[in-house]
This record gives sequence, structure tokens and C-alpha cells, in this order.
Amino acid sequence: MSDALARSSAGGSRAWSGEPDAFAAAVLEWFRVHGRTDLPWQRDPTPYRVWVSEIMLQQTQVAVVIPYFGRFTARFPDVAVLAAAEQDDVLHLWSGLGYYARARNLHRAACRIVDQHDGRFPEDIGLLQTLPGIGRSTAGAILSLSLGQRQPILDGNCKRVLARCFAVEGWPGRTAVLAELWRLAELLTPADEVGGYNQAMMDLGATLCTRGSPACARCPLSAGCIARRQGNPAAYPAPKPKRDTPVRTAGFVLALDPAGRLLLERRPPDGIWGGLWVPPQLAAGELPDQWCLNRLGCEPRRLEMLPPRRHTFTHFHLDIQPYAVLLAREPATVADAGGRAWVDPAAPGAIGLPAPMRRLLTEAASLYRHDDGDSR
Ligand code: ADE
Repeated sequence: MSDALARSSAGGSRAWSGEPDAFAAAVLEWFRVHGRTDLPWQRDPTPYRVWVSEIMLQQTQVAVVIPYFGRFTARFPDVAVLAAAEQDDVLHLWSGLGYYARARNLHRAACRIVDQHDGRFPEDIGLLQTLPGIGRSTAGAILSLSLGQRQPILDGNCKRVLARCFAVEGWPGRTAVLAELWRLAELLTPADEVGGYNQAMMDLGATLCTRGSPACARCPLSAGCIARRQGNPAAYPAPKPKRDTPVRTAGFVLALDPAGRLLLERRPPDGIWGGLWVPPQLAAGELPDQWCLNRLGCEPRRLEMLPPRRHTFTHFHLDIQPYAVLLAREPATVADAGGRAWVDPAAPGAIGLPAPMRRLLTEAASLYRHDDGDSR
């Protein structure tokens, strides 16, 4: 038995005596009473549906995911339909969920399953992990929740529960800390009811063993939890060592033609908002009126600097400076090779639009409605 498990047995709790089986039994007992068992992906939990849900649930809360999951699986009910779809359709149904690499990877992985695995969802953990966007924990969750395979998981919620129960020191982004958490996860995962156990660990982390204010009084593991005994469970897991988040700035042009249509461009496939539609971005140092002349061949009738706003990505802040430009006449170049579109900003249609840009479009639509210029 590990030192950590041996130490935990000193807690003296019956349900949580330090034996791996006792840990799982306490978790499962809690799950039978408090666990969620009626989420949409838990009905008919095929590997495909569980995969989609697990990808959506990365970085996103259950309540937000539910309507997206319903729309996504209604439109793409299986891996073959998803693989056959245009990436644009997939991104459209992801619009607003954020972290769009998840959607692009989901689509790429579906294409690989069809091309290289005869359309059959891989049931081997090693094979599953070779697909884009599927790491060890996601692969474990898919195979345990859908097929009952005994596979450990270690998402952020589980890391927190285990780090506290066993007082695992250090930031889980460090290799040695992560290895210790995986070792514990493997040791504690039961052979039976593994789906319920894994779901319960995620639910425990999400609902009781939360980051800021753990509800230890209601936790089935609290009697043996070392961090609780130490008096400061919220100190685990240790946070990432601080480094200032870098700030990038970018100007975006909300170009409205005399009919009130707004120009969107599709971003290149990689980089931020890859494959999504956004208003044109200014090059560094470029001014919006210059941009208008150079890119559209006409002058702005009205140019307005809108309030700046910040959008935070995982690794940096993006300070967005939007410029609204009302054009004096129809632009000379209305469309080109598929990467540009003029849309009604109040109803841009079935395209992938990042959430902050959707809000900007709404503002642009209202600006146009309130413009009393005489050129319309
Ligand atoms: N986060 C990741 N997967 C999850 C799941 N299956 N249930 C709840 N939260 C999750």
C-alpha cells in the first residue's frame, strides 16, 4: 500500500479506512443517493454520445452543455454523420461554447474513425488516445462510462478530490505530481460499477469538493481526508506558479455597407478562432480608414471607435478595439474566394461565430439602425 494510502488509514473512519475498496465503496454509496443519473448523455450512453459529452464538458459546466449536446446529437446522431458534415456546420453548433479546437478535433477524429477504423468507434484505450482531442482521462471516461471498462480517469475534479484526500503536494501540472495522482487513480478505481464510480468522482469534485469552498460536512470521504484533518483543504491542489498573463491587442473593423450588411471573414484553420467567422482584423499599426480604402476601395461615411473589451483565452488576454465603419456606397469587391461574406448582423445565419464577436455584431446592428445618415 502507498504511503499516502497507509497514512490515510490512520484517520480511523470505517467507510474510508485506507483500503482501496473502502474508498470506492464510500464514493459509490454517495453516488447512489446523490449522483446525477438522468443527464442526456447518460440515456443511451454509447461511446459516441459519451465522447461528445466529455469533449463538451471539458472546461464547460453541465448546465451549459445540456442544450448544446441536444442540438449537436440531433444534427449528428452518429460518427458517420459527423464525419460527413462540413466543418462549418460543426462549428456553427459549437458557437458560444468556446474552445473551438474541441469542435475541430471532434470533427477530425470522426473523419479518422470513418477512414481508418471502418466507422467503428475504437474500444481500445491505446487506440482511442491516438485520436485528436482525446487524452488519457477522456479516453478512460468514454470507455468506462459507455462500456464499463475498468479505466481510471483524472480530470480536474478528480485531481482535486485525490490531492485533498491524500494531501498530494505540488501543482498537478508538474510531471511528478501528475504521476502520483494517476497512481492513486489507478489504485482506487474499482473493477465493478466503474462507470458510476468515475461519474461520482467527477460529480463530487464539481459539487462538494469545489475549489474555493469545499462542503466537507457532506462529503463521504471527509473522515479520512488528510487535507481536511490538516485544516485547510482549499490549499490543495497547489496552484500553478504565477506568471503574468500576457496581453495582446487587436483592432477589428465592423464594416457596414449602405444596405446594413456587415463584412465577415473566415479565420485561417489554426490559431485563435480557427475556421470561425469574425469581422476583419487590422494588421499591426493599420488604421481603419486606410483599411477601408485598401481593402474595399471606398471611404467611410462614418467611422466610430467603440468601447474596447477584453476576451480572455487560456494563455493570454485579447484586448479588442472595435471600429464601426459605415460605408458611403457598395464596396467594389463584394465577395472573394469563399473566405468573405456580407451578412445581416442581426441574423448572421448558420455559421460559426465566437461569442464576443456575436455580441459585437448585435452592437453593430443597433448602430446601423440608429444611423440617420442620408445615403440610405
Ligand atoms: N466533466 C467532465 N466529464 C464530466 C462528466 N461526465 N460529468 C460531469 N462533469 C464532467
